[in-house]
Amino acid sequence: MAEIVGAVTTSHVPAIGRAIARNLQNDPYWKPFFDGYPPVREWLRKIRPDVAVVVYNDHGLNFFLDKMPTFAVGAAPQYANADEGWGIPTLPPFPGDEDLSWHLVESLIEAEFDIVTCQEMLVDHAFTIPMALLWPGDHAADPWPVRAVPVCVNTVLFPLPSAARCHRLGQAIGRAIASWDSDARVLLLGTGGLSHQLDGTRAGFINREFDCLFMEKLVTEPEWVTRYSIPELVELTGTQGVELLNWLVARAALPGTVRKVHSNYHIPISNTAAAVMALEAVS
Ligand code: DHB
Ligand code: FE
Repeated sequence: MAEIVGAVTTSHVPAIGRAIARNLQNDPYWKPFFDGYPPVREWLRKIRPDVAVVVYNDHGLNFFLDKMPTFAVGAAPQYANADEGWGIPTLPPFPGDEDLSWHLVESLIEAEFDIVTCQEMLVDHAFTIPMALLWPGDHAADPWPVRAVPVCVNTVLFPLPSAARCHRLGQAIGRAIASWDSDARVLLLGTGGLSHQLDGTRAGFINREFDCLFMEKLVTEPEWVTRYSIPELVELTGTQGVELLNWLVARAALPGTVRKVHSNYHIPISNTAAAVMALEAVS
């Protein structure tokens, strides 16, 4: 059976794509952010994942306000990126894993999650930026080193799924991966957050205290955040801070005991409290 090796959770701000394209990793503005990633990459080289299940939210590239699934899973041979208007390079397509995709879709529907299955799916910056941070390089020349399965959670158009529902989805994804007849090593990748609000009278809102507590609790007690309703999470983290739901899904998929390998928290990147965390599945 497949093995879940761990999870990485990270912010996905589009400006990071521009900084990578311009090689600004050592620029004073960017260095404290990019310095969070080499230890994660070093750990990934050790744990050697074959597949990444990427839990993220689409911001209008694949789904728009007219049709917005609560949960969607990709089941395509590959996933293309396209211009979203942020002025960042479009990245080469990501190879899929159709066998894991269909196993996930079947298992989740069996577990009573009403998944939208996408046999064609564009992936936006919330998917591509984390992949580029974890596996840098020219992937037009060198293929991406992992296959990917996108799991898209609606964190943008109300009503959103509750934190409790996202926690249960993560657990069901974990059970599905563990029952996948494969010798693949699977990484969970959860993207978004942490606190940020891009518009309205609270634009620029950041809550360091809540973010740090959330990161601490996510390691040992991920269900802690399910005590908050979605309106409470918006109040505490900003309208886009609710992207932390993707972190919760990815974390809740890990079985048994979890060890924190590394984390970094830096304020701000663009309007966002930018953070990364790597968690190893110990047993
Ligand atoms: C920003 C953050 C996001 O999560 C996003 O999807 C787009 C922009 C930002 O801070 O600029
Ligand atoms: Fe976002």
